Formats: sequence, structure tokens, C-alpha cells
Amino acid sequence: GATDAPSGDLATEILAALDKQEPILSAQAFPTLKFAEVKSALDRLASRSMVTYETIEKEEAILEPEAQTIAANGSHEARVFEALRTAMDGLTVQELESAVGDRSVTKIGQGKAFKEKWISKGKDGKLKASVDLIQDITREHLKLIQEKQTHPDSKVLADLKKRKLIKMQKVISFKIHKGEKFALEITKEETDLTGDMFASGAWKTSTFKPYNFKAQGSAANAGALHPLNKVRHAFRQIFFEMGFQEMPTNRFVESGFWNFDALFVPQQHPARDLQDTFYISDPKAALPPAAESAEDKADYKEYWENVKQVHQDGKFGSIGYRYPWSAQESLKLVLRTHTTAISTAMLHKLAQMKGPDGRPPPARYFSIDRVFRNESVDATHLAEFHQVEGVIADYGLTLGGLMEFMQIFFGKMGIYDLKFKPAYNPYTEPSMEIFSFHKGLNKLVEIGNSGMFRPEMLESMGLPKDMSVYGWGLSLERPTMIKYGISNIRELLGHKVDLGFIERNPAVRLDKN
Ligand code: PHE
Repeated sequence: GATDAPSGDLATEILAALDKQEPILSAQAFPTLKFAEVKSALDRLASRSMVTYETIEKEEAILEPEAQTIAANGSHEARVFEALRTAMDGLTVQELESAVGDRSVTKIGQGKAFKEKWISKGKDGKLKASVDLIQDITREHLKLIQEKQTHPDSKVLADLKKRKLIKMQKVISFKIHKGEKFALEITKEETDLTGDMFASGAWKTSTFKPYNFKAQGSAANAGALHPLNKVRHAFRQIFFEMGFQEMPTNRFVESGFWNFDALFVPQQHPARDLQDTFYISDPKAALPPAAESAEDKADYKEYWENVKQVHQDGKFGSIGYRYPWSAQESLKLVLRTHTTAISTAMLHKLAQMKGPDGRPPPARYFSIDRVFRNESVDATHLAEFHQVEGVIADYGLTLGGLMEFMQIFFGKMGIYDLKFKPAYNPYTEPSMEIFSFHKGLNKLVEIGNSGMFRPEMLESMGLPKDMSVYGWGLSLERPTMIKYGISNIRELLGHKVDLGFIERNPAVRLDKN
């Protein structure tokens, strides 16, 4: 086609040159052409099997400008000698200078000519030639190199290099042979077999371009998993591997009861403020908690009463918060602020279950889903995010056991050397924030919140006194941002997300160092 024209000319020239002589060396046949130009023409011919070529890399010796003068006019010492040889009675230094015509050449050449014993100083103080004939070896060497770009004696090359008369240069050239389909002209290669070719019979004589199996295909247009989804997948695997069951989290709207009261969060707690929590205005209120299915045998009236009493007057050995508890506040509808609302409902269901000994059996639950908080949005906060949450219910659990569990759990994500800091949650006692040293940030970063659920919460739902429950939570966004090197959460979620980023990112494996 027309686009081939520039290299097409060179390609034809190469074919013509090969026709006369084989092989040819590109450096000799096309000494002025750029390497890239020659290579592209050769590749085009080679892809049609019209030529084969090999790349030859060699070092060439190049004369420096001073050396070029020497090759043309002789070495400094030879020029000094020549000037003295032709002067019958010798020359003063000044006369010599004007005879040679170059002061620095005279100066350097004089010293060397003395050393070679080519010249001497007479009694009259004049310089004279002391031999009839000299051999200007430097010039001879340089002339040879000028012609052959090299010298058979490597010592000569090294010496001239040291004297800064030549420099070595890498030269790439091609040795070109005729190929299997060598011809003087490049025939047009068909890329398609058409109906017209069949009709005219042209298919019999046409040359077809062979398939290029090395060509990269165009990127397939396909769906891609969001980074959050990939990290969520990794977390789910860890939970399943450790014997956890996934909790159903398909309810974004909760009542204050499940989100707060059942968790022993007092009704005056700042987390329940409008500034922190999104409330639903329509419908105005939830119905009091009740069984959702036929299998659910729980007495929700008793649970509701227990929660009220434990807040208002105290119960189960707790003195409570001592404030008038409001049913209306408890029935406000909220966008859940944490998935612990779901854990609470699941633990309440667990309280109704009977294991082999007639008591609730040990259980491990987890969930990973969206929660909502009325936060001002910035580079690291959105009004919604995903929470990874786990609970373990068992008999005889201890705080040390929770710490060990955390080490194993986070260790499976490649996070080691945890630090625990005492913290406060209305629903856990003791409570611990979990920190880990982040190498990239070079500081401790908070990676989770945890604790042992309070008896006020667990006994209200009817769990036995000697059953304890560990709970912990973390955001899915934080580890995802760290793994994908994202510093602004809006690059991960929301309308500013670049779909290319989502499509191109590889599946992430939480590294296990
Ligand atoms: N709900 C807590 C949070 O939102 C996490 C947590 C869960 C803490 C369970 C303790 C126990 O940060």
C-alpha cells in the first residue's frame, strides 16, 4: 500500500543489491542510512521470506579530528623533522615555528623528534635533522585505521586510544542473504480471500499474506471485578477457612433497637445524633421486633422488656444507665451504622438454638457489607463504606484468646505484629483497638476494633451467663486502598472512579510474605 512507500524504495534497493552480490553488509551497501530505517525495510522483506539477515555488532575505531590531521599531514614530530630536513643549515626555534606553521605542533613535535633521535642541536644553537629518513609510524597506523576502522595489533589501538587520537564506537550492521522467496520486486500480498477473486480466478495466482501468529490481539472487552470485590473475596476465603458462617446482611435499614438499644448503646449516646446517623423519615417508625419466620420461636416481648430494663433500671447484675428509656427512640428507622446490628440479631437467634447438651452451641459468624455514617466526605471518608465483621460465641472464652485469634486472622492477610490498645465501645468490655505497623507509612495504623460483648447485651437476648462472645470489625476500604496503592477513596468508589483502573488492575492476593 501507499504507506509502505518510503521503506518500499529501500526494500527494493536491498533486493537489487542482493541480486548482484550475496551476502551484503548493510554498513557497506548503505553506509549513510540510519540503523532503524534499514531494519524496518529488512523486517518487511524478512516477513515475506524474501531475505534473511543477521545482526552484527562490532566495535569500530574512529579517528578524532587531531588524528585526521595527522593522517593527512603527518605526526607532529614528522612535521618538525621534515621542516629541518629541508633546511640545509638548520633552523632556530623561531624559524622552525614559522616553517611548520603551527606553534603547538612545533612544541610537541620537537620533544618527540629529540626522543626519537631524529633531530639534534648543533654547536651554533640551531636545530638540525640528524637522519636522512624516518618512518612516521603514528601516521601509518592512523591511515590504516581510517581505511579499515580497526588495526590488527590491539596494543596499537590501546595506545592510540590512550593518546586520545582514536575512539571506539559500537556499530550495528546487518549481514543480508537472499531468502526463500527472493525476487526483485515486492509483490502485493492479499490479506483477504474475496468473492471477486473466486469469480475472476485471481485466487489461483494471488500471493496471500501469511498469518502473523506473533501479533498481539486487541484487548478483549470484558467485565472486571471491582477491587473491593476482590479483597472481599480474599476475606471471605479466610473466614470460611476458619469455620465461619456468613450472616445475611440484606437490610440496610434497621430500627434503633437493633442498631443501638440491643447493643446497650444508651439513647443519649452521641453516635445516635443526627450528625452521625442517617434517619429515615418515611415510614416514621419501625414495628417492635417480632419473629420474621415460622421457625423463629423467640419471645421478642421478653427481649424488648429486658433491653428496656437493662438500660433504665439495670438487670443481670448491672446497674444500668438509669434514664427513662423511650420506646419511640428505639423504633426510629436508621440506615445501619454498623453490621453489628446484624450480628446482634444473629446472636439473638443463636440464643434460641439448642445444641446436644440443650444449650446454644458455639458459633462463628461473619459478614462483609455496606454501612452508612453521616460523615463529612474527604479523601479517606465517604458517607458509606463496607464493614468486615466477625463474631465468635463459645463457652469459657478469654481476652487472651481474642488476642491470639486476631493474630491468626490478620496473619492470614499478611498483617503481623499487632498492637492492642484499650478502647471503649458501649457494647464491649473490655474493648481493644487493633494496630499494625505499616511499612509504607512507617507508622502504626488502626486496622480494627474489637472486644468481648457485654453481659447487658448477651443476657438480655437470653444467652447463658457462661457463654462469651468476641466481636471485631474493620473497614474493607482501608486494606483495599493499601493493597492497590490508592490514596483518595473517591478513586475507589463513586462517580469519579476510572473504569480503566478497575479493568486493568490484577486480582490481588493478600501477600503472605
Ligand atoms: N461495630 C464496631 C465498629 O463499627 C466494630 C466492632 C464489632 C467492635 C464488634 C466490637 C465488636 O467499629
